[in-house]
Amino acid sequence: MDSIRVQGGVALQGKVRIQGSKNASLPVLAATLLVEERSFIKNCPRIADVHSMVSLLKCLGCCVRWQETGIVVDSSCVRKREMCQKAVTGMRSSLCLLGALIGRFGEVIMEYPGGCVIGQRPIDLHMAALGQMGVKFTQKNGLLMASAERLCGACIRLPFPSVGATENIILAGVAAEGVTVLEGAALEPEIGALCRYLCCCGACIEGVGSGRLVIHGGRRLRGTTFRVPADRIVAGTYLLGCIGTGGSAFLEQAPEEDMAAVLETARQMGGYVCTCREGIYVQAPRRPKPVRLVTATYPGFPTDLQSVVLAAETRGDGTTYIEEKIFENRFRIVEELTKMGACIDKVDSGRVAVHGVERLHGAKVTARELRGGAALVTAGVMAEGESFVEGCSFIYRGYENIGRDFRELGARVTSV
Ligand code: UD1
Repeated sequence: MDSIRVQGGVALQGKVRIQGSKNASLPVLAATLLVEERSFIKNCPRIADVHSMVSLLKCLGCCVRWQETGIVVDSSCVRKREMCQKAVTGMRSSLCLLGALIGRFGEVIMEYPGGCVIGQRPIDLHMAALGQMGVKFTQKNGLLMASAERLCGACIRLPFPSVGATENIILAGVAAEGVTVLEGAALEPEIGALCRYLCCCGACIEGVGSGRLVIHGGRRLRGTTFRVPADRIVAGTYLLGCIGTGGSAFLEQAPEEDMAAVLETARQMGGYVCTCREGIYVQAPRRPKPVRLVTATYPGFPTDLQSVVLAAETRGDGTTYIEEKIFENRFRIVEELTKMGACIDKVDSGRVAVHGVERLHGAKVTARELRGGAALVTAGVMAEGESFVEGCSFIYRGYENIGRDFRELGARVTSV
């Protein structure tokens, strides 16, 4: 089931329910390690990355089970602090277990975390910040070892608002002695979700939603029930995908409050977008209007949705300019889209010009990373005739069932 077959050329029509957020679920699940009681995390998506996180938590000794659409985690019996599992290298988010385990035990041994091949993805910011809190790092035989005799609050200024580093500082900060003041924190909504979960458990974090967080460490955390928000990136995939394919769609539960830049871009592309409490309605133009897009940290346009705009604009009514500012390897789909008849110039490693064509044609293409893969399925739906997208295991890392979702919207998409 590593390929997806798409019979394209159909304008979308219908309603799809948006799954829970991957990027919020993963750090919240990691944070359950700091709570030595039972937590019930509702609305977790059934995606490969969440399954990997569940197996990592189990491997550490947590009792973990799915209950309907949520996950119950009890970390009271955890004694282990080593994670030398394959899952660590395959999933970047295993990195937030670093902050959680340092917080719980003051010590962790893990393989160097992996993730999508969309750039270098160093962890220097994580190490420097945790270093300020008293953590010492060593590397031996490819393993990363971190330990802190005393984990202490610190005044930390992040030179770049890294999402993962912000999460690790929060996780270590709630367990540390004293107060951690974090300046330059990432503003992504998933950080807010992590803070809200920890505060529900009894942590004290001031400034949630801002770039300056004050974390009062050392409080006892109690188990709680917490609902993960809907996935703004999945919602954005179908919203922008609809603009590329034509037609109209209702995205049930889409978190419009976290999607201002995406909605703005969708409107610039000629989409009619309206929002209500239940979700987002979008109606596509005949062909997308060209735009100038620059990715940025939140509240700017998310890098995770850049490939979907790129795919949609291959049918644009003019030339679209896209600049990628966050990850350097996010234009790997250009070659694949070209096989479908797209006309794209790489200006340099961080910029492309997409010259819209009237129509794409079906082709055999290969996904090489998560969001690019979703963009290729979208392009398949836009193209006339049959396409095969191979390498879909990347897509299943973040989308529960992209085929089912597109079928809900009337597209002919099947796993083969
Ligand atoms: C998270 C998201 C990912 C999203 C990204 C940016 C999760 C699981 N993943 O990834 O979907 O695309 O935010 O919104 O939540 N950097 C360094 N040194 C570091 C850390 C980061 O140079 O120590 C650089 C990275 O190479 C990259 C940029 O900072 O160029 C952004 O990285 P970061 O915000 O940390 O993203 P992730 O947490 O990896």
